[in-house]
Order: sequence, then structure tokens, then C-alpha cells
Amino acid sequence: MAKTLTTTAGAPYASNETSKTAGPRGPVLLEDYQLIEKLAHQNRERIPERVVHAKGWGAQGTFTVTQDITKYTRAKLFGEVGKKTEVLARWSTVAGEQGAADTERDVRGFSLKFYTEEGNWDMVGNNTPIFFVRDAYKFPDFIRTQKRHPKTNLRSPEAMFDFWAGQPESVHQVTILMSDRGIPKSPFHQNGYGSHTFSLWNDAGERFWVKFHFRTHQGHETYSNEEAERIIGSTREQYQEYLYNELEAGRSAKWTMFIQVMNEEDAAKQPFNPFDLTKVWPHADFPLIEVGELEIDRNVENYFQMVENVAFAPSNVVPGIGFSPDKMLQARVWSYADAHRYRLGTHYEMLPPNAAKNSDVRHYHKDGSMRFFSNDFGNPDAYYEPNQWDGPVADPSTMEPPLKIDPEAYRYPQEVTDDDFVQPRKLYAEVLSDEERQRLHQNMAGAMAPCSDSVKERWLAVLERVHPDYAKGVREAAPSQPAIPVTDNTPVQAAE
Ligand code: NDP
Ligand code: HEM
Repeated sequence: MAKTLTTTAGAPYASNETSKTAGPRGPVLLEDYQLIEKLAHQNRERIPERVVHAKGWGAQGTFTVTQDITKYTRAKLFGEVGKKTEVLARWSTVAGEQGAADTERDVRGFSLKFYTEEGNWDMVGNNTPIFFVRDAYKFPDFIRTQKRHPKTNLRSPEAMFDFWAGQPESVHQVTILMSDRGIPKSPFHQNGYGSHTFSLWNDAGERFWVKFHFRTHQGHETYSNEEAERIIGSTREQYQEYLYNELEAGRSAKWTMFIQVMNEEDAAKQPFNPFDLTKVWPHADFPLIEVGELEIDRNVENYFQMVENVAFAPSNVVPGIGFSPDKMLQARVWSYADAHRYRLGTHYEMLPPNAAKNSDVRHYHKDGSMRFFSNDFGNPDAYYEPNQWDGPVADPSTMEPPLKIDPEAYRYPQEVTDDDFVQPRKLYAEVLSDEERQRLHQNMAGAMAPCSDSVKERWLAVLERVHPDYAKGVREAAPSQPAIPVTDNTPVQAAE
């Protein structure tokens, strides 16, 4: 028999269908607090969507160590071959709102939360090994160009290409975005990359710069623009449907985790800045070293609780894993926890997907809105530090080794140089096949078709610096009909 429906305070409901009114045709009485509670809760069901990466798909799984990397890191999650760690994954598009269609051309977020015995480690990456910009000052502006125009409330290709033309270092990432890999078939058919340079450090206090790679076992499968348009015409939720149904049918997805490793001394000798987020580390110089296998094999029980409430943060590292001087990473280390406090509240770390599962949590932070969990960790006298009450103390053995840094503080200009075109050139000329290059030309030409001629020419000049054939190919692929401005009020006019 069904159990009794109750208020949030546990009192039984007499009716969940009829308001309490003055007479059979009369107005509702204010004392119908159950009705008020019901409507008030509905009014509070939505939380702010993520300012970026709002549309996402999540699932759970396990990471298993397959190779010994303890010479690089003391992190216990990599402590021995065969070791398993529970993982929560969320994939996302960057620009679209929460209701955006899944198969849009965009970079995909690739976030993993590892519930390790030393706290949670979050790998908050993308399906691309690089990014559009390399200084956090440019991130809000970049994101603004991906979102809606303030007047038209439409996405603005003019703004996107205007910004990219002004930031030629973005051409590496824009090339990947406009290549076949710009629309993966599902979250499973793509690689994941930490993108930034991170660090690992071992028991001997040695630090290594590293890149994290997760290579798909499902293969890179992608949609063309035409296929994606057709899919969006019939379903906007293709990824969610695919992912949910695959996992419900018992078909899991796998990735092999690799690292690339660079010694601290070698960093200074590279022809490129190893902490520049617009650059990869070439495989030939820094071979992929296998670490383990990620298997995603089950759906979450409640999407809102586990995927909407999950709070990934590059600041969530564990002893043996650290940051690097990459200035974008430095900004991200601060930005995410700030976003979570706004989006989810002060104690977001205690929500089910974020709470450490396999390590104890003990700190001196007290009180605050929604302090719904124990306020004293079983030791009420130890509410300050130092104390005589055997309260928690720091463990100096988890201190990261010292890092030598250049002491000259300055706002160092980051001029665009020929070096910024070497890697996109290699991708364009050596990695992509003829057919892939053709499709890149077409996708790029189509994406910039609505732009003004001046923006197109500025962007084509950037492509020219990558490779003359690139600019030529995009020019030739450009649709013959004249560009159609998004509206009469786009920045096309403002710029004139
Ligand atoms: P490699 O030939 O060893 O690697 C080429 C890489 O390109 C592979 O990782 C491959 O991924 C990837 N790739 C293939 N098609 C695309 C695409 N459309 N978009 C993005 N990546 C793609 O050479 P290098 O390491 O010297 O790199 C050459 C260029 O490849 C780089 O300049 C960079 O643009 C790109 N690249 C490099 C990566 C790296 O970490 N070194 C990672 C990804 C791209 P897969 O193996 O999964 O097929
Ligand atoms: C989400 C900031 C660059 C990957 C977010 C969020 C913020 C943010 C505020 C929303 C967090 C939330 O509400 O949960 C920034 C800033 C950046 C930056 C300030 C640059 C300075 C990057 C880069 C990557 C990345 C370079 C990938 C390498 C992601 C992912 C998410 C995200 C995957 C979604 C996480 C999830 O699934 O919940 N970012 N970001 N971001 N960002 Fe960034």
C-alpha cells in the first residue's frame, strides 16, 4: 500500500488536489499552507545554470590503474596497479544554455571527479588539448562572443570571428572546432584532455610537468553539419538519449588515461612555452605514458542531484598532483569555487556528488547558510586552532615541493608570433587528410558566412599565416550568395 503523503515537516496531507476555500465556490484561505508550500517550492526548483558549460550529460564509473607511475607521483589513487577509484563524469557543450541542442558544433567539456582516499581530484578538461586564449583576462570576452548579442538576443558569428581575428592565437583551437571533431557523435566518441600543463610530484619531492590525456576506446565518430541539423530537427537531446540508453543496456564506455611528462629542467629548453594553453606538447618529443583505464558504466539515479549539483573545480587536487605556472590555470583555480558558492551555496562541497566519499573531511569552517551537516566533526571544543582538544592539525608531509619562479612581477605582453602558427600548421597540413581539410574549409566558410566582409578578410589573413592553402580553401568554399546579416542591428553596423 502507498505510504502517506506528508508536508516537508512530516505532517500528513488530507488532499493533494483540492484547495481549502471559503465555501464550495469561495476564495482560497491563507491557512492552506500546504498549497502555499507546494507553489513556493515550485518557484524555487531552478538554480542558476552554469555561466558556461550549462548543457551537460553525466554518468558514473571507475578508474583502474594499469601501469605504475609512482616514480612521478605520490598520489594514492595511482598507488598500485589494479587500484580502483570511483568516478563521476560530466560532459558538456560550452556556449549553449541548459536547453541547447546536444549536437551543436562546439568544444565539449570533459570533467571527471575522482573520489580518492586523499580527497576528491577533479580533472576539469575539454575534448580538445588546447584553448582559444592564454590569458584569463580574455576569457569573459571570449565567452561573451559565444553567447547572445545584447540587443538581438541571437548568437553572433560577427562577434565570434571579430574576436578570433583579434586573437590570432585562437586559430589552433578554432581549427579543431571547425574540423570533423567539432561535432562528436556522443560523449563517448571523443577524447578528453586536461589541456593545461599540470604537475605531479613524488615522495622524493621531485616535480614533473604533465599533460593528462583520456583516449576513447569507442573511436572518434562525428557528425557533419547536415547530419547534426537533421538530428536537431528530430531531437535536441540526442546525447542524453544515447548515453542513457547505452548504459541502461549494459554497454559501458572506456578511455585509456595517459600522461605526457616533462622534467622541470627541460621546460626552459623548449622552443615553445610549455605553460601556454594554446600549444600541445608534440607526441614525438613527449610520448604518451599509459596510466590506467576509465570505464563509465552506470547512469545516475537523479539527474538534478548528481549532475546539476556537481561542482567540478581545478582547485580540487590531492597530494602528488599540483598546478603549474599556466596563467589561465591559475585563474581557474580561483574561479570555479567562486562560481559554485554563487550557483550552489556556501556548503556546496557537502552535496552528494561533491562530498568526499573515501576520505574524512575535517576543517574549522563553521556555520553559514544551509549548514545541514555536523558543525563540529564530533569535537565541539575544537572550534579554533591551535587548541588543546586534539582538533585536526595540518600534515606537513603533504607539503608540495618548492617551486622556483621568476621574481620580476610585470604584465608581460603576449605578442602573437610565428610560433603561434606552427602547431595549427602541422594539424592542417600533416594531420588532416585531404577530405578532412575540404570539410574544414566548408565548415569554416559556412560558419563565417553571416559575417561582414571586413571581419572575413581579417580572419582569412590569420588563416593565411597558418597556411596559404587554408585561406584559399576557405575562400573557395565560401557560399557564392552574399552574406546575410543576422539582423540589421548586429555589430556589423556598429563597427561601420
Ligand atoms: P601526432 O601525429 O603524434 O598527433 C596528432 C594528433 O592529432 C593525434 O593526437 C590525433 O588524435 C589528433 N587529431 C587528429 N585529427 C584531429 C582533429 N581533427 N582535431 C584535433 N586533433 C586531431 O603529432 P603531434 O603530437 O606532433 O601533433 C601534431 C598536431 O596534432 C598538433 O600540432 C595539434 O594540432 C594536434 N594534436 C596534438 C596532440 C598532442 O597532444 N600532441 C593532441 C591532439 C591534437 P588521435 O590520436 O586521438 O586520433
Ligand atoms: C565550467 C570558468 C577555462 C573547462 C566553468 C564554470 C566557470 C568556468 C565559472 C562554471 C562552473 C560551474 O558553475 O559549475 C573558467 C575560466 C576559465 C575557464 C575563468 C579561464 C580562465 C576553461 C578551460 C577548460 C574549461 C581552459 C578546459 C580545459 C570547463 C568545464 C566546465 C567549465 C569542462 C564544466 C564543468 C562541469 O561539467 O560542471 N568554467 N573556465 N574551462 N569549464 Fe571553465
